[in-house]
Amino acid sequence: MSTENIKVIVRCRPLNKRETSFNAQNIITVNSNAAQIIVNSPNKTQTQNDNPEEHIQQIFTFDKVFGTQSMNIDLFNQSFKPVVQAVTQGYNACIFTYGQTGCGKTFTMTGEQSNVGCIVNSFDCIFDYISTLPNSVQIILKASYIEIHNEKIKDLVTNLNDLQVNESKELGIYVGNLSEYICAVQKLIYKK
Ligand SMILES: Nc1ncnc2c1ncn2[C@@H]1O[C@H](COP(=O)(O)OP(=O)(O)OP(=O)(O)O)[C@@H](O)[C@H]1O
Ligand SMILES: [Mg+2]
Repeated sequence: MSTENIKVIVRCRPLNKRETSFNAQNIITVNSNAAQIIVNSPNKTQTQNDNPEEHIQQIFTFDKVFGTQSMNIDLFNQSFKPVVQAVTQGYNACIFTYGQTGCGKTFTMTGEQSNVGCIVNSFDCIFDYISTLPNSVQIILKASYIEIHNEKIKDLVTNLNDLQVNESKELGIYVGNLSEYICAVQKLIYKK
């Protein structure tokens, strides 16, 4: 387990069809080696003042950055895998995506058949770990699927709304009445 408990990574997606259709300009440069995102000022038109300060690049450094050609498996191996492996060692862990609509959260977490995302890769990693254990060890892997929107919690499988966050000595923090599903090797149907 790394010494830092929280890591922030940034992934930039390519311009989409709508953006290229009106000649939108990419103003982001991704420097993976330095883990930096460079935001360049957009080209100016002749009518705008040529203020040199507006040409200054803004540079932001993160724990890791991924460019437009990155594959989901690269993000998994380089950033998410250590988090999932920590879970197999008994740590609690959380991976979440944040960003405006259309920025690529679902693409990163769920992915596509040919480029499966973090959720599928995480389950693969956990099942791979389980397969290395002796038969005398029994592991039960359960999954739940919730949405938190406007501070309301909804079970996305049962559609039960307004679930409450509770805390108990035995369970720690948990969501009451949340449905849970035991996961098995059916995960293989999502693979090529
Ligand atoms: N890294 C990427 N490479 C190629 N295409 C991408 C990438 N990220 C996202 N896209 C494409 O951009 C579109 C929007 O992505 P996505 O649906 O993942 O956004 P989102 O953040 O989940 O949006 P919302 O908040 O509306 O759910 C999709 O068509 C997706 O295939
Ligand atoms: Mg989405």
